[in-house]
Amino acid sequence: MAGVRFQNVSKVFGKDVKAVDDLSLDIRDSEFMVLVGPSGCGKTTALRMIAGLEEATSGDLFIGENRVNDVPPKDRDIAMVFQNYALYPHMTVYENIAFGLKLRELKGFFWQVSHMGEATQKKKEIDSRVQEVAKMLAIDQLLHRRPKELSGGQRQRVALGRAIARKPRVFLMDEPLSNLDAKLRIQTRAELIRLHRDLGITTVYVTHDQVEAMTMGQRIAVMSNGVLQQCDEPENVYNKPANKFVAGFIGAPPMNFLDGTVTNGHVDVGAFKIGLPAGNPLKGQVGKKVTVGIRPEDIYDSTTNCPVPLTAENSFDAQVDVLEKLGAEDTAYLVADGLHITATLDPSARIEAGKGSTFAVDLDKIHVFEFETGMAVR
Ligand SMILES: Nc1ncnc2c1ncn2[C@@H]1O[C@H](COP(=O)(O)OP(=O)(O)OP(=O)(O)O)[C@@H](O)[C@H]1O
Ligand SMILES: [Mg+2]
Repeated sequence: MAGVRFQNVSKVFGKDVKAVDDLSLDIRDSEFMVLVGPSGCGKTTALRMIAGLEEATSGDLFIGENRVNDVPPKDRDIAMVFQNYALYPHMTVYENIAFGLKLRELKGFFWQVSHMGEATQKKKEIDSRVQEVAKMLAIDQLLHRRPKELSGGQRQRVALGRAIARKPRVFLMDEPLSNLDAKLRIQTRAELIRLHRDLGITTVYVTHDQVEAMTMGQRIAVMSNGVLQQCDEPENVYNKPANKFVAGFIGAPPMNFLDGTVTNGHVDVGAFKIGLPAGNPLKGQVGKKVTVGIRPEDIYDSTTNCPVPLTAENSFDAQVDVLEKLGAEDTAYLVADGLHITATLDPSARIEAGKGSTFAVDLDKIHVFEFETGMAVR
């Protein structure tokens, strides 16, 4: 096994499409790293550079201790599950899983004829490896079938099996669960986490789904427009987003952003004044433009189980525009003096669409960003 290291790596397509922009990222040996970001931010390109399917325009890429910029894909000892995984339609599940192993171990017909004993031994090893992987993914009953006789989820697992069978130094997975239904996705997500725990193989996992990133990654690397925004453990990315982009991308419903001006220890956002957390360096900078970030779950209806005492600088009156009942919680779309604010509320909250109430913000949890740069200020 081995870690993967990007050192100032860029990839430019054509003249000016900077798909990956000066990426430096150290993926540790045995780590499960998730690359996450919106469509087109450069995730697949980064992954394809690790695989050797795309050449870096500049910078250095290491697998383990070796600089691999000039190493051909077949010599990198990685296995990749592609965004649009393709199985060989004319082969059975067994043959699909065994194919890569055979290609690697049985070096062509003439080699096999001249090394009969060794070839037989290798074939036995391949067979037991295929059986082992098929059991692990619960597709051992399906080995004789062809891809068209499988459900989407089963096909997905065959594609994973084909990658896993190889026991590579690094797994690269590009949205491998995108074609599964919600339930199967959650199930396979858990299977992949278990698999990583059992095999401990360095894994780089690409997704645009922030829930997948949060639940699967030991660390998450958030990208936007080819640029790495933040790389940290899920909890830190969530609680201490480096900038407004990360804050808005991670978390659902997304964080509320309210633009305002620093007044005396507050941020005036129009509808109300929000107290700045103690020790925030912006407290004294009267007149500075900032953006306050408030997660929907840090807003409470003041009349129901409100854990924060109401004060003038943490509360606001708002109309409930739309109320979505989700069972475990409610999502309320509030309007306060023209400002739109989303709140995740306790379902026992006594609020109704079309009516008003007073809401409170947990000021210890708010985020403040520089208006111009979007950088977090703490
Ligand atoms: N072969 C190519 N030639 C030119 N531009 C490309 C090529 N491949 C990717 N791009 C561009 O590079 C950028 C990054 O693409 P990439 O496929 O890495 O994004 P992604 O993050 O994987 O997106 P998605 O979530 O949609 O899969 C995009 O702007 C894309 O249009
Ligand atoms: Mg992609």
